[in-house]
Amino acid sequence: MSVSKSTIKKVTTHQLQEMKNRGEKIAMLTAYDYSMARILDAAGIDVLLVGDSASNVMAGNETTLPITLDQMIYHASGVVKAVGRAFVIVDIPFGSYQGNSSEALRSAIRIMKESGAHGVKVEGGKEIQESVSRILSAGVPVMGHLGLTPQSIFKFGTYTVRAKEDAEASKLVEDAKVLEDCGCFAIVLEKIPSHLAKIVAEKISVPIIGIGAGPHVDGQVLVMQDMLGITQEFKPRFLRTYANLNSVVTDAVTNYISDVKTSEFPNEKESY
Ligand code: KIV
Repeated sequence: MSVSKSTIKKVTTHQLQEMKNRGEKIAMLTAYDYSMARILDAAGIDVLLVGDSASNVMAGNETTLPITLDQMIYHASGVVKAVGRAFVIVDIPFGSYQGNSSEALRSAIRIMKESGAHGVKVEGGKEIQESVSRILSAGVPVMGHLGLTPQSIFKFGTYTVRAKEDAEASKLVEDAKVLEDCGCFAIVLEKIPSHLAKIVAEKISVPIIGIGAGPHVDGQVLVMQDMLGITQEFKPRFLRTYANLNSVVTDAVTNYISDVKTSEFPNEKESY
C-alpha cells in the first residue's frame, strides 16, 4: 500500500523512513505562518520546514544569520497550529547551538516546548556531532543539513554549488555518515552535484532531501515563496516555479485600489 494523503493521518519519522524504503518520494516545503501552512497541509505536503530562510523571505534580511530563536518559535507556533497531517521541523537559528551541546539542547527544547514542533534541523556534520547527539538523547528528532549551509555563508563567500572538489565531496559523505550514526532521522543536501547526492542517498539509510541536489534523492524541498513565484529576484537553476503569485497579488491589489478610488467598492450588497 502506498503512503499518501488519504492513508496517513499524521506523518511521523517512522513513516518518512518507510517512504524511503519503498521508494516513495517525500515532498517538503517551507512555511512560516498559520494561513499558508493550512493550505500546504490541506494540499497534502508531507513535511513543513519552518526554515531560518524566514530571515530572508519574511524579515527581508540578506542572510539567515540575524533571525533569533524567539522569532523562529513565533513562526513555528503558527505553523504547528495549522497542521493536521504534515511533520513540522524547525531550524535552530545561527548562534543558538554552535556554542556547545548544552546550548544546543536548551534551544531544541525551547522550540519543542514553546512551538509544539515535531523536530529540529541543524547545519553541519562532525563539528556539531556532540550537539546533535545531546538533542537526540532528549528524544527530539533531528534533521541534518549539509552542502551549502547558509548559516556559514561568510565562510564560503558565495552561494555557488558546494562539494565539486573531491576533498569537500569526501568530507560531505563522511559528515552524512556521522549524522546517520548519531541517529538523525533525515538529512537535507543543498546545492551539490547530482551524482554526489545520489551516492549519499544510496549509502545512507535515512531519507535524503535535496534542494538543488538533483533527482536521485529521497525527497525535495523548496522555499515556498520561491516556488509560488512570490520572490521575483531569486532564480537559481534548481528552482521550478509552480505559480506566479506575484502577478496574481499585484493584479488583485491594483483592481482593489482602482475600485476604492472610483467608489466601485463597496457596493450596496457589501454595505449594512
Ligand atoms: O531555511 C531553509 O529554508 C532551509 C531550506 C532551504 C532547506 O534550510
